[in-house]
Amino acid sequence: MSDKKTSPAVDARVRKVVIPVAGLGTRVLPATKSIPKELLTVVDRPLIDYVVEEARQAGISDIILVTGRGKGAIEEYFDHAFELEATLRDKGKTALLDDLVANIPAAGAVSYTRQQAPLGLGHAVWCARTLVGDEPFAVALPDEISAGGPGFLSELVASFNEVGGNLVAVEEVPREQTSKYGVISPKSRDGDLIAMDGMVEKPAPEDAPSNFRIIGRYVLQPDIFEILATQPRGAGGEIQLTDAMQTLNARQPFHARICSTPIHDCGSKLGWLMANVDMALKREEFSEGLTGYLKARLPV
Ligand code: G1P
Repeated sequence: MSDKKTSPAVDARVRKVVIPVAGLGTRVLPATKSIPKELLTVVDRPLIDYVVEEARQAGISDIILVTGRGKGAIEEYFDHAFELEATLRDKGKTALLDDLVANIPAAGAVSYTRQQAPLGLGHAVWCARTLVGDEPFAVALPDEISAGGPGFLSELVASFNEVGGNLVAVEEVPREQTSKYGVISPKSRDGDLIAMDGMVEKPAPEDAPSNFRIIGRYVLQPDIFEILATQPRGAGGEIQLTDAMQTLNARQPFHARICSTPIHDCGSKLGWLMANVDMALKREEFSEGLTGYLKARLPV
């Protein structure tokens, strides 16, 4: 669909996902003062768990976490908890134990690297360059989770397997919200896929090239790393992934994929509350009790 540039190998498989988890979580303070934002729970699972599961469903086997100071509890979460497991075993709570153990990724499937200074999303992704190596890879920001449906990464990987190159996930938002996101400048559309003229980080509504905002899911060629290495600071004084992608878009095929997966934005307190209600309503064990409570609680 794109008229420019040569496509990098379309037959390469997306095996790795980079998940930046170094952010301070200032939008959800004080909850995140002493626990990582990524471990906030939606119902009974931490946010990071939803994203790792989404990656698994997309056929991605290698998880790369870009972590930072005070985020050690995330590593504990993906490891065995021997005392807890022994206690559950002794008490005969085997179903609980089996669930817990089944949820731990295979040995060596999760790698960690550290972003040593809060220089922005682009810098966080660049910190993963050695672990990614020379192959296409996904990026997933754990604030936003798939609320059912196929999952953003499954949709992106399916499109990648068709067209190759680079992809970002997008959705339409009211124009007054563009200054919160990266926004694409569409050139042509073919079904769910949009070829782009470019993209811009956090434009004011009057400057936004469209109302298609970037969701925190990407499939990128490793060529992004050499661009990020010298990427000047952009919006908010940070090294922005969007700015580096804008450069890559001029060199390689790049599409935006309009995703059909519904989103929960847990990076805001209201979004996180709504995610909890929605995800609990989807669970058989909670739906009746919660529905009854909400009906009684809400004005008729
Ligand atoms: C980041 C990206 C932005 C994207 C957003 C999605 O912004 O820079 O392009 O639209 O995630 O959540 P942040 O939320 O880190 O400010």
